[in-house]
Amino acid sequence: MKNNIVGYECRCGEEVSFLSELHPYSWSDDFSLELTCPKCKQAHTIDKTEAINFNAHKAHQLFDGIYGNVLEIGCEYGLLTNYISKNEKVNSITCVDIEDYLKSRLLKSKKTKFVLADLEKLDTKKLDKKYDFLVCKDVLMCIMDIEKLVEKLSKICENVLILNWFNKESKNCKNKNATPMKVKNIFAKYYQNIKLSYPHIYNYCYLISASKK
Ligand SMILES: C[S@@+](CC[C@H](N)C(=O)[O-])C[C@H]1O[C@@H](n2cnc3c(N)ncnc32)[C@H](O)[C@@H]1O
Ligand SMILES: [Zn+2]
Repeated sequence: MKNNIVGYECRCGEEVSFLSELHPYSWSDDFSLELTCPKCKQAHTIDKTEAINFNAHKAHQLFDGIYGNVLEIGCEYGLLTNYISKNEKVNSITCVDIEDYLKSRLLKSKKTKFVLADLEKLDTKKLDKKYDFLVCKDVLMCIMDIEKLVEKLSKICENVLILNWFNKESKNCKNKNATPMKVKNIFAKYYQNIKLSYPHIYNYCYLISASKK
C-alpha cells in the first residue's frame, strides 16, 4: 500500500515528494534517502526526522481552512494544536485529552487552553458554549462510544474536520467498529454536507468534513 507521503521542501521552494509503502515512523533511525529536485536538480538527503516532520506537516496542512474558536479532542502532545495555533484565522483552541500531556513543552501558544477529561463521559459544561470547528487527528479509533460523543459535540460545534485512521488489525485500534463509513454515518445523523475522503498522507487515514448548515 503506497499511501505514505515522504519528501522535503527544496531550497528553490519546490516540494519534492513521493508515496512510499513505508511509514516514516517505522523506518530505522539510520534511514537516509537521496532525492533530486526535479525543478533545480539539486540533490538532497532526507533523514528519518525530516521524513516524519514532512509527513506530519502534510497531515496538518489539511486543517488550513479552519477558523474561529476550535475544539480539539485527543490532542496528545499538541502537534496539531501547535500547527493550527499559528493560523491567524484561529482565535482560540480548547484541547481535551484524558492524559495531561500538554504540560509538556510542546504547547506554545497563548491561544490554547487544556481541559483534562475522558471523552467517553465528557461533560460539555467543562467546555465553551460554541465552537466554530471540531478537529482531531488519530483519536476516534480509541473511542468506544463514538455516537454518544458526536451527539454531545454536535450541540456545541458548528463544523467538523477530522483526520483519523482505522485498521482493525492494529493493537492501537481499540474500537474495531470505527470504520470510516460507520464514523461518517454517525456524523451524518447530526451534521449536513458530510464528505469522506482518503488523502494519501499515511496508511489507513481518512478525512471527514461536515457542517451544521
Ligand atoms: C494517537 S494520539 C493523538 C495524536 C494527536 N492528536 C496529534 O495530532 O499528534 C490519541 C490521543 O487520544 C487520547 N485519548 C484516547 N482515549 C481518550 C479518551 N477516552 N478521552 C480523552 N482522550 C483520549 C490519548 O490520550 C491520546 O493523547
Ligand atoms: Zn529545487
